[in-house]
Amino acid sequence: MAEMKMIEAAQHGWRGAVDIPGDKSISHRSVMFAGLGDTPVHIRNFLHAADCLSTVHVMRALGSTVEFLNENELIVTGKGLHGLTEPMTVLDAGNSGTTLRLMMGLLAPQPFLSVFCGDASLTRRPMGRVLLPLSAMGARIYGRNTNNNLPLTIVPTGEKLRGIHYESPVASAQVKSAILLAGLYADASTTVTEPYVSRDHTEQMLAGFGVRLERTGTSVTVFPVEDGAYRAPEEITVPGDISSAAYFLVAGSIIEDSSLLLRNVGINPTRTGILDVLTEMGAYITLQNERTSGGERVADLTVETAPLRGVSFGAEIMPRLIDEIPIIAVAALFAEGDTVITGAGELRVKETDRLHAIATEFQKLAPGSIEEREDGLIIHGKTEIQRAQASSYGDHRMAMSLAVLGAAAKGVIIEEPDSVNISYPTFFSEIERL
Ligand code: S3P
Repeated sequence: MAEMKMIEAAQHGWRGAVDIPGDKSISHRSVMFAGLGDTPVHIRNFLHAADCLSTVHVMRALGSTVEFLNENELIVTGKGLHGLTEPMTVLDAGNSGTTLRLMMGLLAPQPFLSVFCGDASLTRRPMGRVLLPLSAMGARIYGRNTNNNLPLTIVPTGEKLRGIHYESPVASAQVKSAILLAGLYADASTTVTEPYVSRDHTEQMLAGFGVRLERTGTSVTVFPVEDGAYRAPEEITVPGDISSAAYFLVAGSIIEDSSLLLRNVGINPTRTGILDVLTEMGAYITLQNERTSGGERVADLTVETAPLRGVSFGAEIMPRLIDEIPIIAVAALFAEGDTVITGAGELRVKETDRLHAIATEFQKLAPGSIEEREDGLIIHGKTEIQRAQASSYGDHRMAMSLAVLGAAAKGVIIEEPDSVNISYPTFFSEIERL
């Protein structure tokens, strides 16, 4: 494991094409949902990264067969919607909030006991947001201390869960998905209402498995699945991850003389907030070759260097760019004027407290460039940037954002760079190639 990674200032623009690796959210779901079917599902362009492998290990421990044809292609065969079996060991979700929260929803209705653990970061993160609504459905889940942290134990109740209408205080796809998955097994329909619509990959993919869902406004209802109605498709092709493309969208905008083609990027409207914000900042981004792949919209994106200007945005767009705040903050540092980000309190409970992490590390690289607020950041664009050592806090998105910042300025030495393995293991080799 490398302790530090040295990123040098780019000597010339980044030019050429990048094949964006598979979407992390969709990769998780493809393995989980395929593992609930009873026919083999061929998954292509799967993201072979630590987070998604956590889901693979958990599904295997529950009796699903997962066979890798190569790193990005696998065949998943389940034993049916009621075919999961009691795990013999503690289930390790690693660093992955998606694995843990979605699996809590899936395991709450099962007639067996399961126990979860995870790494230090996941162990600090709040699970009450999932435990509470699942408990309202009748589930019995026990966590550590008043925050319901890991380790967590799910105890069978011997009864069907109850369908509920849950008004979620947060726009979170992980919370919504956990409830919808539990709803597959409930005695009546289950509705989740969110303050704003979060990513809808669960809804899109479950519909492809024959599950009945209805959306009205920011509410979505799932109906319990009758025996035999859950039908796995023969194949799922995972689109490229716009959250991974985001690093190149910003690098291509701020590194002088750049021109990049980002191939095969998912453009599901619940994920494209980054395109809206960068466009408003003045970025030169185009969408080409729009198509549908595995029920999701996909396009090739181009980006060229552009003069950026500061913008303001808040809670309303947040769910559509929740994972992109660190790299948007980097773009803001190179923009003319201030960028004001509000309604971003959720960032405090990500892999690390990202608001604090961004503010602290930007102060090292560009003193005076940033102000941390309770629910956001103010970034003063065009502040003088220096070379410095900065921490990723073991957070993949911090590591990649710092790398882009360093390449566009005077270089950076990144602590705990291996965190990129969580979502983009080939990130450093890709930027070295460019
Ligand atoms: C995800 C949902 C988001 C996002 C995470 C992946 C998902 O989390 O930050 O990276 O796959 O459902 P929240 O639901 O906590 O907002």
